[in-house]
Amino acid sequence: MNSIGKLITFEGGDGVGKSTQAKLLVQKLSDLGKKVKFTREPGGEKIGEEIRQILKNSQNIDPVCETLLLFAGRRDHFIKLISPWINQGYFVICDRFYDSSLVYQGILKEVPINDIMKLKQIAVGDFEPDFTILLDASIDVSMQRMFARKITNDDEYDKMDRQKHELIRKGYQKIAEIFSFRYAVINAEKSEKTVFAKVWKALENTIIDGD
Ligand code: TYD
Repeated sequence: MNSIGKLITFEGGDGVGKSTQAKLLVQKLSDLGKKVKFTREPGGEKIGEEIRQILKNSQNIDPVCETLLLFAGRRDHFIKLISPWINQGYFVICDRFYDSSLVYQGILKEVPINDIMKLKQIAVGDFEPDFTILLDASIDVSMQRMFARKITNDDEYDKMDRQKHELIRKGYQKIAEIFSFRYAVINAEKSEKTVFAKVWKALENTIIDGD
């Protein structure tokens, strides 16, 4: 448990509604008068955002190179934003964190998991999210949402085929089992409101009550 503030991360495949749910949580916490910050990965401060752009614009990037860039961005994000916010007592709500690298670079692109864990250690040390919400939806539902959201987006991630989406979904289910002490797996196929009620219940019973 991070001593002062808390890091709550949202994970899941593309199109499951992470950003929407993360923003609903930010709103809820701020309505309750809590100090809250929203952020996302890849991203963060200047360096992190520039790395996000490099990743979005690169075609056929070598998976190890991609992993190194993601962790360079993560390091910047961690030291410039996440860590100071936690130390100032904020709830930090982050759309993706290093579990995304375990699934996308490790399970999907076969970068050895041990190498990813070594980079995690270099970038953020023993730091871990306090709680992670995995939004889980069938590939049909998440693909429908992706098509509805961005019809003309030609970045690499949106071109992933069905089989890859399935691998990502299964990969997350596996990661959630390994880190079950900090994970809640939530069926994300229902309406925004219904899904958020489940997100809130998972957090209220664990993190928020223990505040
Ligand atoms: P996403 O938040 O889904 O972007 P957008 O808001 O544009 O939909 O993240 C972009 C992609 O980055 C997503 O497909 C997953 C990928 N990604 C990785 O491959 N590894 C990582 O470590 C992270 C954080 C993201």
